Amino acid sequence: MYKVLITKEIPRISMDILKEHSINFDVLGPNVSLTNLNETFLSNYHGLISMLNQPIGADIIQKMPNLKIVSNYAVGVNNIDLAYLKSKGILIGHTPGVLTEATAELTVALMLATSRNLMSAHKDVLNGSWQDFEPMKYLGPTMFRKKIGIMGFGRIGQKVAEILHYGFQADIHVLRKDGKADQEIKALTALPITLHDEETFFSDLDVLTLHCPLTADTIFWLNEKRIGKLPKKCIVINTGRGELIDQKAIYHALKEKQIWALGTDVTTPEPLPITHELLSLDNVTVIPHIGSASIEARTAMAKITAMNIVMGLKEERVLYSPI
Ligand code: DGY
Repeated sequence: MYKVLITKEIPRISMDILKEHSINFDVLGPNVSLTNLNETFLSNYHGLISMLNQPIGADIIQKMPNLKIVSNYAVGVNNIDLAYLKSKGILIGHTPGVLTEATAELTVALMLATSRNLMSAHKDVLNGSWQDFEPMKYLGPTMFRKKIGIMGFGRIGQKVAEILHYGFQADIHVLRKDGKADQEIKALTALPITLHDEETFFSDLDVLTLHCPLTADTIFWLNEKRIGKLPKKCIVINTGRGELIDQKAIYHALKEKQIWALGTDVTTPEPLPITHELLSLDNVTVIPHIGSASIEARTAMAKITAMNIVMGLKEERVLYSPI
């Protein structure tokens, strides 16, 4: 009988699906780290349900000689050594599509929280600093009719554009992707968008929002040079992966007020130590990687994660593969 290791508690529906298909499973306790488990234990498993922050590469795989499939409870798969798993004939599953709305909605929420200083305002209420109506405090730019730059115009980038276009009459600017023709990008959406090369993309942006996957090509994409091209009024939003940004470089730009603010759902590392320099700045809003954390999205992710396992073990293919 097949056995699956689930590395963190996820919505119950996943386990129900595995049971329906007579697949046994164990769920690791909250303080158990996958990397600390030995081969005697890990060799019992044919399937692995992994989380986006758990590196899955040779170290783990060599201790799992019976492994047939890794099903990542995420759309992003930068935590997985895809080439290595492929070379070992291990299937890989992920959860695209079902967290698009949740992540896009969270992106816009973070944009508003950052621009309108919601976090510091809330903190002031909690710590008793709210003494009176303050005409000059908590001021920040509206998001209505702003120039939004989108880097990564996949499902989530497109949904963010849609919410901001219809809800906020935003002016949407998209960075071209190498190898993609303009017509191909424009065909992705019915919205009016302006396409740019890097030379023209950054100038005059009110917001830059990142939605590309983390790959060898995009790691530290927002580096010192590109940050230097952003106008002073620009708010940077990141709901992709922390490593898309050179954190040291953006810290300096934020400290020197070379850009307006940063709102980020993702950091390097995660969690960010509470003594981290980024957290000392009042123009930074950090939330703990909750892009997909709507009940609907997480439930749908749990279903797909389990179905990837079932199909992987029984049919040697997955519902959604990132490769
Ligand atoms: C994912 O699933 O990759 C997202 O980062 C969740 O927020």
